[in-house]
Amino acid sequence: MGRIICCGLGPGNPDLMSVRADREVRAAKHVAYFRKKGRLGQARRIVEGMLAADVCEYPMEYPVTTEIAFDSPDYIRLLAGFYDEWAERLARIARAVDVVVLCEGDPYFYGSFMHLHARLQKRIEIEVIAGIPGMAGCWNSVGQPIALGDDVTTILMGTLAEDELERRMRNSDALVVMKTGRNLQKVRRALASAGRLNDAWLVERGTMPGERLARLIDVDGSDCPYFAIVLVHGRGRRMEAAE
Ligand SMILES: C[S@@+](CC[C@H](N)C(=O)[O-])C[C@H]1O[C@@H](n2cnc3c(N)ncnc32)[C@H](O)[C@@H]1O
Repeated sequence: MGRIICCGLGPGNPDLMSVRADREVRAAKHVAYFRKKGRLGQARRIVEGMLAADVCEYPMEYPVTTEIAFDSPDYIRLLAGFYDEWAERLARIARAVDVVVLCEGDPYFYGSFMHLHARLQKRIEIEVIAGIPGMAGCWNSVGQPIALGDDVTTILMGTLAEDELERRMRNSDALVVMKTGRNLQKVRRALASAGRLNDAWLVERGTMPGERLARLIDVDGSDCPYFAIVLVHGRGRRMEAAE
């Protein structure tokens, strides 16, 4: 009986992968990873040059990504069928050999692997190797502390409704907004209403080739990539009081 080993690969720069993930990726004979149709895939890109010459690759291509609304019945049905099918395929392969599943960032942190994990955990031995989450790579790129003292940090998804984004932005010190891409204009309006726009940073492709850092107020945001995060740094409540 083989295992499924899901390797968190960190935020994008291969140097930020753990020693354990590096070892598993290089030793792998069977490697699976998610990707959009027609793309190499971000997780696969991170391990470029590290895979064995005779490795078997299993690109798991999403049937849809942004073509239809992520909360529509069609999207939910198509994605559920896709995860069911790949769970079965990986289970069959892992009956005989170990399969390494690649995952950018940390797999347990909004990773697509969780859909496979939920379907396979009672059937197959699964090991998950921690990775540095994308947001940690992004705030390191900005080079300022994200939270300190008694700061409350809130992690939001750009897919949330604008009024909910605004409410949560008002009630937090430090902010991380993920899934920014197509939602950037909404995120920007919510930050402005919450009085936080002037403090916000946009990090595109953090730690990857083509990384871009900008103050959100200076960006028009019409062309924001999927790998983008908005950050608002906390100021350190207790520390401000002590100064
Ligand atoms: C489905 S979540 C996956 C998160 C991942 N498991 C992690 O630990 O970071 C994808 C979102 O993470 C964010 N993200 C992850 N890595 C990033 C990076 N290097 N630069 C910018 N955004 C990133 C983006 O907001 C993207 O839309």
